[in-house]
Amino acid sequence: MHIQIFDTQAELDASAANLLIDTVISKPNAVLGLATGSTPIGIYAKMVEMYRKGEVSFSGVTTFNLDEYVGLKPYNDQSYAYYMNKHLFAHIDIPDTQTFLPNGMAEDLDAECVNYDKMQVLKQIDVQLLGLGHNGHIGFNEPDHALSGGTHVVKLKEATREANARFFATMDEVPEYAITMGVGSILKANSILLVVRGADKAEIVKQALTGPITTEVPASLLQTHPRVTVLLDREAGRMLD
Ligand code: F6R
Repeated sequence: MHIQIFDTQAELDASAANLLIDTVISKPNAVLGLATGSTPIGIYAKMVEMYRKGEVSFSGVTTFNLDEYVGLKPYNDQSYAYYMNKHLFAHIDIPDTQTFLPNGMAEDLDAECVNYDKMQVLKQIDVQLLGLGHNGHIGFNEPDHALSGGTHVVKLKEATREANARFFATMDEVPEYAITMGVGSILKANSILLVVRGADKAEIVKQALTGPITTEVPASLLQTHPRVTVLLDREAGRMLD
């Protein structure tokens, strides 16, 4: 595991963006695994900036996102499809046909999950970008006594729904389910880029990177992967020796 700590968010974002873009420059048909949430926003902004300067083309790149809510149409502004268009896809030259998110509107969700994993057998992810949840979750893989390996449907915890309720007009509109790549699907990526910011994540960073490997801290399973790069800001890394 290669861990790097940065003093400023700008340096952290630039380093993560450079790692992804170097992958694309050295392999123009690279397959990137992408995440949503607050952590990647600055990274995607930097990637857009580098694209606009002509430093990279994404025309040959394929992307797979980690997760998506069930029941939200792609143009719903809370869907992850909407987020990806807003922050990245609409601003770069990647064809729509090469960007994949789990289809949370699929009639047969289980078949959608199987299909999503099958696509990744054909197109091996070169780098999987990950953020880290406060409880150690990656994707929507929440702490549990057991974890699912492949892409699967998860029932969102009430606490998660309540935390998300502020983004919706009524509690009824908050999705009850999501589709997420499993920890097994994530670990199949050729390399992994975990990016974490903030003092509130220092404790879970320490547990995930140096604690026991346990399904109660899903990110701790990353310790079993041979090629993981972890980029942290000073606050998130403050409990590491
Ligand atoms: C997003 C995802 C989540 C987030 C995690 C951290 O696609 O899968 O696991 O990466 O919740 O979120 P932020 O970056 O908002 O702290």
